[in-house]
Order: sequence, then C-alpha cells, then structure tokens
Amino acid sequence: MIHSLRQNGVPPTQAKARRLLLLTARLNMEQQVRSPMVEVKGVPLLKPIVTHWERVERFIALPDDLLIATYPKAGTTWTQEIVDMILNHTDFEKCKRAPIHDRMPFLEMTSPNPALSGITKLETMDPPRVIKTHLPFQLVPTSFWEANCKVIYMARNAKDNAVSYFHFDRMNLVQPEPGPWPHYLDKFMNGKLGWGSWYDHVKGFWREKQKKNILYLFYEDMKENPHQEVERISDFLGQNLPKAVIAEIVRRTTFAAMRDNPMANYSTVPETIFDRRASEFMRKGEVGDWQNHFTPEQNAMFDTHYQTMMADEHIPFRFLI
Ligand code: A3P
Repeated sequence: MIHSLRQNGVPPTQAKARRLLLLTARLNMEQQVRSPMVEVKGVPLLKPIVTHWERVERFIALPDDLLIATYPKAGTTWTQEIVDMILNHTDFEKCKRAPIHDRMPFLEMTSPNPALSGITKLETMDPPRVIKTHLPFQLVPTSFWEANCKVIYMARNAKDNAVSYFHFDRMNLVQPEPGPWPHYLDKFMNGKLGWGSWYDHVKGFWREKQKKNILYLFYEDMKENPHQEVERISDFLGQNLPKAVIAEIVRRTTFAAMRDNPMANYSTVPETIFDRRASEFMRKGEVGDWQNHFTPEQNAMFDTHYQTMMADEHIPFRFLI
C-alpha cells in the first residue's frame, strides 16, 4: 500500500507534479520540433523539405546512382541494408562503417543544420551512390529518368503500412502529431499524411516499372522468401552472388539482426527526435500486425475504399502470408 502511494520514496503530490512537469517539457519539445505539412503539386511534404524544394527538383543524378524508393514505412531500411550487403558482399564489416542514413542519404530530407541534408551529403559522396527517397513517382527529380538510373521500389500492403506509419509518427517528433488511430487511418486513406497517398504512390511506380529501370518488390514476398528476393535484387544489381553469400546476407538482415545492429536500427538518432518511449524504429517487422489495430468496422470500411481506389490497377498485394 505504502509502496503504491510513495513511488521511489517520493510523496504522491510531488510525484504528480514531477509527472506534470515532464509532460509539459515533452509537449514543449514536440511543439518546437514537429513540422507542419505543405503541399508540392498536391503532395503533402514536411515544411523544411518544401522550403528547399528547388534543390531537390534540380538534383543531378548520375547514371550509376541507385535509387531506393518507398512509401514511408514500407521496408526502406531493410532494402537499404540488403543492397549495401550485396554491393559489399566480400566485406560485411564495411556495412557497419556508418549509420544507414549516412551510407545512403535521404534525398529530399533536410534539417536546420544544412550539413545534414540529404543533398549536401550526396554532393560530398563519390559515385556510385545509393540514394533513399519517399517521393512519389511524379516528384522524383527528372535527372534520375534522364540518366536511366536503376530504381528499387519496395511496396508494403496498405494496412500494415498504415499501422507502421502510425507508430512511427508517434515516435518521430519531426512528423506531425498523429492523433488517435481512427483519425490517423482516415488521413492515410485520404492521402493526407506525409508523402501523400499510399494508393497513388504504389500505382505510380507500378505503371512505370516496364518503361523504366525499376525493380518492384513486395515486403510480404521478402518476409516469405527472403532468399529468392535477395537473389532478385542481387541479379538486378548485376552481382550474381553465390547461394552461400545470399544466405549470409539473409542471415544478417533478419529483423532480429537489424534490430540489434546500431548502424541499421536508427539508435544513433537522438531522443529529441525519436522518442523511443512512444515506439521503436524496429518495432515488429511482421505481416498482419494490422489485425491488432483495425476494428472489424474499420476493416470493412477500409476494404470497400481500397477496392475503389485500386480498381484501375491490379497490384498483387497480400495482407497476410
Ligand atoms: P513495423 O513498424 O511494422 O515493425 P522503413 O524502413 O521504411 O521506415 O520501414 C520500417 C518498417 O520495416 C518497420 O515495420 C520495421 O520494423 C520494418 N523492418 C525493418 N527492418 C526489417 C527487417 N529486417 N525485417 C522485417 N521488417 C523490417
């Protein structure tokens, strides 16, 4: 009884005051960092990205650059780590040379410190560069298409993607406040989250994949048969790796292996940006976690909306494996 009233020896009123203080400090911190969204050609993007949009638009891609494109939370980091291991297969230790966001800069991302912006990092890197983007097809700088760059697009089923994004927005204090889940789901369905509509995103790259040099992958396939998918990526990159090396890459890029790898798990990002009390970056890494979030009513409403939104393009997404 006494223990429950006096946590760590602090009287209840003092403990309450301390909790209030911590909460206020956290709210203040969030208000300072969380960015509003501003639209570029109808696509909501974080305001700092829009402020330097001209730099993004004018970015000069080189023919050997590789672009890894995804809707946020579709498995970008996983794809990046696999690609780095494929490209450095004789030297796995080299893949620990730096955090993933330094090894493969995030094209459009910027920060109050200009030295940390994706483009500044890319300008100091020697080609061939591997570049991350969440931009929808129509906003990717045209130089990538003019230079016929290879692009790896990773897509994830809409329900798991929405859930993962929700938890990410809870923890990432740069993103707008997510609010409660039903409200968030509504924003996802209406293309109001950062980087816009999931539906437009997955369809945009799908439609172009035959015309451009795009390898289109699914998170669910990667989960189900990682050997096959890593081999496809390796072949696309012209590497033709032996089966034993593919197996080693698969072993080093499991969810558990990446969760424990500080160069892949974003643990180097400060707490003032990633609030890990809210959620982890490497959260669950599963297919079907949406079942723990969608009510039966939300699921039925989502399915009806999904059918309408995806009626013009058959993309073989799987919500369970
Ligand atoms: P969850 O939130 O569902 O766990 P991104 O890199 O695009 O931000 O995507 C992050 C999502 O990919 C998170 O999903 C994360 O856990 C998952 N992920 C990261 N590495 C993974 C891996 N090796 N295997 C499976 N899922 C992985």
